[in-house]
Formats: sequence, C-alpha cells, structure tokens
Amino acid sequence: MNKKPWNVGLIGCGFMGRAHSNAYRKVGNFFDLPLQPVLKAACARTRSDVTAFANNWGYESVETDWRRMIDRKDIDAIDICTPNDTHREIALAAAAAGKAILCEKPLARTAAEGADMIAAVERAKVPNIVWYNYRRVPAVTLAKQLIDAGKLGRIFHYRAVFLQDWTISSELPQGGTGLWRLDKNVAGSGVTGDLLAHCIDTAMWLNGGIDSVTAMTETFVKERKHNLTGKVEAVGIDDACAFLARFGNGSLGTFESTRYARGHKALYTFEINGEHASIRWDLHDLHRLEYFDHRDDSLTRGWRSIHVTDREMPYMSHWWVPGLQIGYEHSFVHQVADFLEALGQGKEAAPTFRQAQLTQEVCEAVLKSAASKQWVDVAGE
Ligand SMILES: NC(=O)c1ccc[n+]([C@@H]2O[C@H](COP(=O)([O-])OP(=O)(O)OC[C@H]3O[C@@H](n4cnc5c(N)ncnc54)[C@H](O)[C@@H]3O)[C@@H](O)[C@H]2O)c1
Repeated sequence: MNKKPWNVGLIGCGFMGRAHSNAYRKVGNFFDLPLQPVLKAACARTRSDVTAFANNWGYESVETDWRRMIDRKDIDAIDICTPNDTHREIALAAAAAGKAILCEKPLARTAAEGADMIAAVERAKVPNIVWYNYRRVPAVTLAKQLIDAGKLGRIFHYRAVFLQDWTISSELPQGGTGLWRLDKNVAGSGVTGDLLAHCIDTAMWLNGGIDSVTAMTETFVKERKHNLTGKVEAVGIDDACAFLARFGNGSLGTFESTRYARGHKALYTFEINGEHASIRWDLHDLHRLEYFDHRDDSLTRGWRSIHVTDREMPYMSHWWVPGLQIGYEHSFVHQVADFLEALGQGKEAAPTFRQAQLTQEVCEAVLKSAASKQWVDVAGE
C-alpha cells in the first residue's frame, strides 16, 4: 500500500461507531483515494466495552477519555459518534488540536452551540464535515442530479416524513445508555433534531433554503423514569413534530416526524412535485427512485421505478455489476470517500459545519414556532 495513511480516532462505539468503522475499513477497497484510513484508536468510557469494540473492528489502540485521544500526535482526524451534548466540547478541543473533524448529526443541540463549533473549525482551518449520510444514497444523489439538470422544472411541493414507533410505551425510561434520545438535556430536542434534521438537510440540498416555518409538536408521554437519577421526571423532548415550510424558491414544504407511528421503524420518504416531473424516494426501498415525467408519451406515461444500479448512476461504478444493489451502510462509505477525495485536493466536502448549521437554524425555528404558535422566519435566510 503506497497511499498516505490517515489516522482516525473514533469517539463513541455505539450504532454510528459501528457504521463509521465499517466505512473506514471498506472505503479503500472500493474507491481509489489519495489517503487510506487507519483505525488508530477507539474511545468509549468503559475499558471493557471499548476493548471489545476495538478488537472487533481492528483498532490499534483504545482510550477511555476523549481528551487523551485528542492530545495524541498520531491521530489525524477525530470522528464524533457520541450523543449530541458532547459534540460541541469535543469539536472545540479537536479543532484547537488541529485535527480534521467528522461530526455526527445533528451538528449540536442548539444553533448557538453550532455557531461555536463553526467558529472553532474556521479559526483553526481544519477540514470538517457532518454525517448527513442520506445525501449519499445513490438514489438520493440521482434525485439531486435530475433536479439540477432541470428535469422537474419549477418545483411546487416538497413532502417528507420520518416515522418510527419505538417510544410508545409509557414504561420506557428516559436517559442513559441507549435512551439518551429521550433526555432533552442530552439530545437537545426529540424527533426535530434526531429525525427531521435528516429530512431538512436532504430537502435544502435538493430544493434550496427554507425561509419560514410554522410547526406543532407534542409530547405524548409527559413523565418517564430517568435512568440516571432513578426518579420520575418531566419529558422535555418533542415526541412528534409536523411543520409547514416556505422555501426560498417559492415551493411549499410539509414535514412530519413521530416515534408514535405504530408499524413504522424508519419510514423516511420524500416526494417532490415539479412543473414537468415528480420524484419520490423511500428509505425502505432505498436503491429505487420513482420518477414521473409528464412529457412522456401519453399512452405509456406513468410512474417509473428506477433501479439505481447502473454504472453511470452516482457511486455505482465502484460496486458490483449493474442490477445488483447496495444498502444503508454504503452511504457512510461514500461520505468517507468524498471527504478523502476532497481532502486530497485541498477542498471541502459537504456538508461542512457551516452548511449543516442551516439545518440547525431550521430546527430552531421549528421549535420556536411550535412554542409560540406563530410562523417563524429562519435565521440566516
Ligand atoms: N447519520 C445518522 O443516520 C445517524 C444515525 C444514528 C445516530 N446518529 C447520531 O450519532 C450520534 C451517536 O448516536 P448513536 O445512535 O451511535 O448512539 P449510541 O447510544 O448507539 O452510541 C453512543 C456511544 O457514545 C458513547 N459515549 C457517550 N458519551 C461518551 C463520552 N463522554 N466519551 C466517550 N464515549 C461516549 C457511548 O458509550 C456509546 O458507545 C448522535 O449524535 C446521533 O444523533 C446519526
């Protein structure tokens, strides 16, 4: 191997820690990149957990304090895969130490935290990116190409939902390992920052900025036992959120997310209706893009289901033969590939912290609108 090694220090060994480790391991086999990720160190708070994780994924060493990891001279990049309340502090320290930073979404709990993080990476001039990985599902990237090529014409509507059903039981506690998403102090918000953040990032990438929103939220279970204190405490997160949006291009958006939609585990869908054509996508069938073009011959016109596996389709020339599909985990491989490709050329890969902050600002406007029952203009738009 004659590629320059790129030493990764990964913090947080849960769901995303696994998804990212898998991506670092695979990317060099499928993409010809200027840098080769090396799994240098993994960090989690419990030594036995992080050691088992490191052995499984092939990390060379372990740390139990992320500050020690950042102090290490043999680490080039810090990957933040920890709950949202840690993103700001870790990013600020990593930037000050001159490390490249790959931060999980949402960028932070609040736009104010996000602003601090932007200032830190821009001051230190360190490469940075946020893991809004759905942009790099080939069918979603194809949607972007079709829109940018003008196939849809003027866009009228953007419709997105992200539905789950795992917090319906009132017996479910909040807080601690596995359930930090229900603790507002750690998560920042509920479905807005967790699920709608993905929908908003994809929407603005495909359809441009959002100017204003009006939202409603609900917390169906008002109190839950807290895993860390053992006490029954008020639930501060939004269990469900629906909002209307006005995009800068004049189109209208509707967004809905809940963890109370019985039967749905991760139903992320979007549909876009344009003057000439419409497209829709469904995470449960992520390798397909549905497309309807009004300009087709009227006798054969209809929704077509594009199986996004041909070589000329985004990312697909790196994988198998046409007709064979790839999955969820590959979106993370693509993100690493794009980041390293850009790094090799001294360029940025999207979304940077500054670009991801736009989503943070929409989330903030959504929560403000739900509280005030008013339309709210998005800051920075
Ligand atoms: N891009 C996506 O689609 C996606 C999907 C899931 C989660 N996420 C984001 O990834 C982040 C992590 O989520 P997850 O689902 O992997 O969570 P998780 O609960 O599965 O894992 C979190 C890990 O962080 C560790 N951790 C917590 N505090 C720590 C600290 N101070 N020092 C070191 N390690 C610490 C925990 O021990 C655990 O290993 C969150 O910001 C979440 O919003 C993104």
